[in-house]
Amino acid sequence: MIFDPIIIGTLNVHNRFVRSATHEWLADDDGRPTPAIGDIYEELARNDVGLIITGYSYVNPRGRSSDNQQGIYDDSFIEPYREIISRVHNYKSKIIAQVVHGGRQAAPTSQYPVPLAPSAVTDTSSGITPIEMTEADILETIEDFANAVRRAKEAGFDGVQLHCAHGFLLSNFISPYTNQRNDRWGGSVGKRTQVIVDIIKRTRQMVGDDFPIMVKLNATDGFGFDGKSGKVELDAPECIEIAKILEQNSICAIEVSGGITEAGEVMARSGIDKPEKEAYFRHYSKMIKEAVNIPIILVGGVRSKPMMESLVSDGYADMISICRPLIREPDLIIKLKSGESEQASCVSCNRCFDPSGVKCNCP
Ligand SMILES: Cc1cc2nc3c(=O)[nH]c(=O)nc-3n(C[C@H](O)[C@H](O)[C@H](O)COP(=O)(O)O)c2cc1C
Ligand code: SF4
Repeated sequence: MIFDPIIIGTLNVHNRFVRSATHEWLADDDGRPTPAIGDIYEELARNDVGLIITGYSYVNPRGRSSDNQQGIYDDSFIEPYREIISRVHNYKSKIIAQVVHGGRQAAPTSQYPVPLAPSAVTDTSSGITPIEMTEADILETIEDFANAVRRAKEAGFDGVQLHCAHGFLLSNFISPYTNQRNDRWGGSVGKRTQVIVDIIKRTRQMVGDDFPIMVKLNATDGFGFDGKSGKVELDAPECIEIAKILEQNSICAIEVSGGITEAGEVMARSGIDKPEKEAYFRHYSKMIKEAVNIPIILVGGVRSKPMMESLVSDGYADMISICRPLIREPDLIIKLKSGESEQASCVSCNRCFDPSGVKCNCP
């Protein structure tokens, strides 16, 4: 099943493998994508990855969260993206842009020393207290996302993924921990999801009804992931309600993830060394998959072929999304298909978070 095609909205993907969005630290200082990023995507396409998701691409300079991240905030970026996409389209693979605003976790710069967020909730991991967004800030951000998607379409991307996970702006909005507003953007789950709904509506005015828009969704902020917390945070059943709202608003696939920086190592867990530790968000993806009728993509610690097969055949996910194993072995999918390998050789040590350019730094 994992090598069978799948239709996502209007998009045909030739197998069930997704390269999860991976920041490469390879854009120039303004966020312009470089040919080195194209080299990575072309290699993944040559090696049979069905759907490639770009690294975090910020929709506004204020939404950058790390050095040498890609941007998609200006029309002058369309041409360099077009060149990269054409290299991928020499193969069967599809490629979509991950569009993001860093929100509470945006990197402070001399121009923007304090990040924006739905509410001024101090991030205890950085000590930073963001500025609460005004109505005007929120409306501007909706325009920024819509224009970023328009650029993605003009450049030739096969779709986009709105990043609503990992503690960045849209994940801040859906979480009751980081969104403590009492206006039309906060309170009930519906109000916390409203900004995403409004982004989709404005975007549809620019790109039409058929352009595939997907979401990477936090199922949990992650404080209680190991039974720790006590905090009021995003978790089930609210993530299921959000998934239903997204489906009703023309989102064509949901990638299920979790964790915000403040909650510790939740998103990219280390030490995945036995089957029980694999696919650590699978219980969330199963709940969400049972509640909606759009493809569900599961990310986080998927390492072995038997696990991949059972996730799809047992109704946990429709597609398998992988990040670290493809940094180490860009040809992993071909090896799994040929039988040369049954298991990724990535040991989940996280030494690939490398500001000199993403790479496997493990022997
Ligand atoms: C080096 C690195 C960069 C990442 N960059 C992004 C990113 O730009 N956007 C995103 O949504 N997730 C990013 N992630 C998270 C991954 O997409 C994925 O959710 C996480 O690593 C768990 O999947 P894995 O176990 O297959 O690595 C990154 C992870 C790593 C290791
Ligand atoms: S450094 Fe290499 S082995 Fe370690 S997590 Fe990253 S890709 Fe995997």
